[in-house]
Amino acid sequence: MCGIVGHLGPQNSVESVIEGLKRLEYRGYDSAGVSFVDETNHLKVFKKTGKIENLQKILEEQNISARSCIGHTRWATHGEVNDTNSHPHSKNELSLVHNGIIENASELRDGLLKKGYEFNSKTDSEVFLALVVDHVENGFELIDAIIATYKIVKGHSAFVILNGKTGEIFAIKSGAPLVCGINTVSSEVLVSSDPYALAGMVDKIYFPEDKVLCHLSVGNTNLLNFYELDKEKSKRYLSKKQDMVHDPADKGDFEHFMLKEIHEQPELIRSLTQFYFQGEGRDSLEKARQMDFSKVHITACGTAYYAGLVVRDYLEKFNKISCSPELASEFRYREPLIKPNELGLFISQSGETADTLAAQALCKEAGLKTLSLVNVEGSTLFRDCTENLLIRAGVEIGVASTKAFTQQVLTGRIFSASLNEEFQNESFKVEMTKKFALLAQRVDELLARSEEIKEVAESIYNYEGFFFTGRGVYFPVALEGALKLKEIAYVHAEGYAAGELKHGPIALIDEQKVNIAIVGPELFEKALSNVQEIKARKGVIVTIGPRGNKEAEELSDYYIPLDFEGLDELSPLYVNVVNQLLSYYMAKFKGTDIDKPRNLAKSVTVE
Ligand code: M6R
Repeated sequence: MCGIVGHLGPQNSVESVIEGLKRLEYRGYDSAGVSFVDETNHLKVFKKTGKIENLQKILEEQNISARSCIGHTRWATHGEVNDTNSHPHSKNELSLVHNGIIENASELRDGLLKKGYEFNSKTDSEVFLALVVDHVENGFELIDAIIATYKIVKGHSAFVILNGKTGEIFAIKSGAPLVCGINTVSSEVLVSSDPYALAGMVDKIYFPEDKVLCHLSVGNTNLLNFYELDKEKSKRYLSKKQDMVHDPADKGDFEHFMLKEIHEQPELIRSLTQFYFQGEGRDSLEKARQMDFSKVHITACGTAYYAGLVVRDYLEKFNKISCSPELASEFRYREPLIKPNELGLFISQSGETADTLAAQALCKEAGLKTLSLVNVEGSTLFRDCTENLLIRAGVEIGVASTKAFTQQVLTGRIFSASLNEEFQNESFKVEMTKKFALLAQRVDELLARSEEIKEVAESIYNYEGFFFTGRGVYFPVALEGALKLKEIAYVHAEGYAAGELKHGPIALIDEQKVNIAIVGPELFEKALSNVQEIKARKGVIVTIGPRGNKEAEELSDYYIPLDFEGLDELSPLYVNVVNQLLSYYMAKFKGTDIDKPRNLAKSVTVE
């Protein structure tokens, strides 16, 4: 969703901010803007709806050089998509960019309107700027005006303010992501809502906490200072030297990030057991397994929720622990029955999904221990949970989550394994490592057969509707397959428990509907008889099934044979790669924007 980048330093700040904003394009946005202090020491603002290129074109015509700049990509919430509602918002040599939602904006706006304040936009964000301006007009120093305003507004937000008179930048957040970084060699200082914007630009990175004001300035001994709300110097940030050299904008030889990320899976699968059994992950796994609990509540959104369904199967099957998975957006408002001796387990790629964070806060408040399976170290979820298990997926740029799903499930499997006594035996770990390696090998083999899957995609992409069906362990990946397809190919797809079709949806089946039937070794006969039911109603059958099974093959219009032997509980992940490739190629034939599908954002930081 919205993205923030601010830069201060000897280099051209506008160029650095545009570079940072481009890296955040993957999050989704509908307009972009920058404001900066130009060579004549005046505040300038440029904003434009649509792609960053539209903005960049205008900026290039101006031949701009600036020493301080803030920028924003907006994903509209309050107020339609237009240039005026785009950020930054400016008044009296002050400029503001904002991520999140100010919940009491309309009440605050009314108060300001009564005082005669004239708003330019319909956004909640401008209310923050208006309050700062109002405080300054009433004699406050700028820093005090920002702090006073911060104390009045409600909701999860990150605010970044540029002082057009001095070039200094202030940033503060409440429940929303914010990161600051310094390049100690070039004396540049940056702020962003996403660490990927700073990759390769900084060598020191800080994650400030809520209620800590960040002050970016040059000409000071410290380029970056943190203050508590009483203006005392603060140390409340997570300082971490991170490997930020990786450029997330590099697709390598792949046409899309999604395809690149699908292909990264075998390597990631191979390295996960090493990380948790021999490497740096041992400590966090040990801490997680020491958490004592009688039941697990899994909450997550979208793909991460489907990963949670597989993890539920693991915890119940291998650990006999009662487990209830639930969508975070429902859980948070449902007054769920949760007790302090239970565990809240939260799954998230970004660690910034608003509903998942709210579910975590609810569990924490009720006294539960909380554990995350999360990709982004230092994210809000990571910081808020009692313990964390990193899923180690690396940067995921494609909006459609692929490798993160695989790693979430596998990290869940490792967590589940660690809870049993047998985990103390080295031989158990060796066996598990072999099974992960086997999965990686099968995925490698499958990727080598991409052309075959592409041909199936080409034959079916124009049909009217798609049912992904599966039973038992394959049901969650049927749901995930359908989500992936609708998300990137914009076709109607549903994931269904195969046994449920005859309770309603079978009425939809005709020769224009495709059933992508997952028929793995578990509940094979039963799943196959469900395929028969669809076949009898003239549905088009694409079966993902065991290699060499004549009966399944003859029943199908298209058959994608898989080698399931030895994969056991990991086999849903193997099937899921077929679904990933099918969706990818169908979207490609449809000609959609695969990495940045319409209406979607990579990280859903509003509810
Ligand atoms: O960052 P998270 O894992 O918390 O995100 C959750 C969902 O928004 C995400 O998985 C979404 O469903 C994906 N775009 C699906 O591909």
